[in-house]
Amino acid sequence: MAVGGENGGATTTGHGQTVCVTGAGGYIGSWIVKLLLEKGYAVRGTVRNPDDAKNAHLRGLAGAAERLTLCKADLLDGDALRDAIAGCHGVFHTASPVTDDPEEMVEPAVRGTRYVIEAAAQSGTVRRVVLTSSIGAVAMDPNRAPDAVVDESCWSDLEFCEKTKNWYCYGKTVAERAAWDAAAELGVDLVVVNPVLVQGPALQPAVNASLTHVLKYLNGATKTYANAVQAYVHVRDTAAAHIRVFEAPSAAGRYLCADGAVLHREDVVTILRKFFPQYPIPKRCSDEVNPRKQPYKISNQRLRDLGVEFTPAAECLYDTVVSFQDKGILPAAPAAPPTQAQL
Ligand SMILES: NC(=O)c1ccc[n+]([C@@H]2O[C@H](COP(=O)([O-])OP(=O)(O)OC[C@H]3O[C@@H](n4cnc5c(N)ncnc54)[C@H](OP(=O)(O)O)[C@@H]3O)[C@@H](O)[C@H]2O)c1
Repeated sequence: MAVGGENGGATTTGHGQTVCVTGAGGYIGSWIVKLLLEKGYAVRGTVRNPDDAKNAHLRGLAGAAERLTLCKADLLDGDALRDAIAGCHGVFHTASPVTDDPEEMVEPAVRGTRYVIEAAAQSGTVRRVVLTSSIGAVAMDPNRAPDAVVDESCWSDLEFCEKTKNWYCYGKTVAERAAWDAAAELGVDLVVVNPVLVQGPALQPAVNASLTHVLKYLNGATKTYANAVQAYVHVRDTAAAHIRVFEAPSAAGRYLCADGAVLHREDVVTILRKFFPQYPIPKRCSDEVNPRKQPYKISNQRLRDLGVEFTPAAECLYDTVVSFQDKGILPAAPAAPPTQAQL
């Protein structure tokens, strides 16, 4: 279904290139579409249902009327993906189930990724595919030394993911491995972005899985915080990183996409309480027995070498909450903008 003609404006502005974004209506996908349109690309976005109100925000993006086309494609529909990708100069493959249900997760993630690489190879026009993988394909390794730096050479341990029933990380790891295998076999230029937990304002109306991570600390859904650590990245930086690795001729391999800090949940609730004391933010850890989990070290050097800049984690969290207020997901309440020292 066409939201706008692909030619309007594309020949006279920006790059004049057409790129496909799978999962265009999702949290990260929407931001990639937004930044691509701002840069003058014509975008073909794949969604499962172009008429669903949850994708309506895409029509409101600047440039959408002239240069955004929505195509219906499920990850298990190789023909639909091939049609969406045919004639494109590049592909941003963000679509993936985000669930720990093994049935829903693994097969669509792996088969869909394979179909996308095959479609890129068949097109004869795609010069690079950028795959959104995850920290989940990198860091799930029980044997990593406590002082080791998590970087692009790390891979999650599939047996460990299986044993701990972490089917999301299992699926992302197998899908990324399948992408590298298919790209090598079919001669496709593949670059992979591995974001950590993404935060920041959502363009789409729904609260996705990564935003629930913070929302539950603000809306009273949880009375305690976990004894766990997490790295964070801003959704705008994540989208910019995808476009940077698409455009940079020298980009190759995997890119960890993280602001560089790893926070304990206690740090997260402390930051949230400092900015937003009006919400029922938990004060107690659910684990009062085990030692406090220690943050691991993570490298974002490869993306910084390409010029990508990262927003501090505190600002990612702040922007997330303001976005919840703006959308009415949380009751709006005045919050002083953070000072430089707070960030
Ligand atoms: N957010 C994070 O913290 C984070 C961190 C690391 C990596 N990632 C990765 O980033 C990508 C985007 O995630 P997100 O956070 O933006 O999640 P999201 O908002 O839930 O978006 C997921 C997208 O995938 C699409 N999708 C799911 N199953 C599909 C299927 N069977 N066929 C076609 N499309 C399907 C969804 O389409 P519908 O709208 O039709 O459901 C949606 O557009 C995923 O690959 C995810 O693994 C996310």
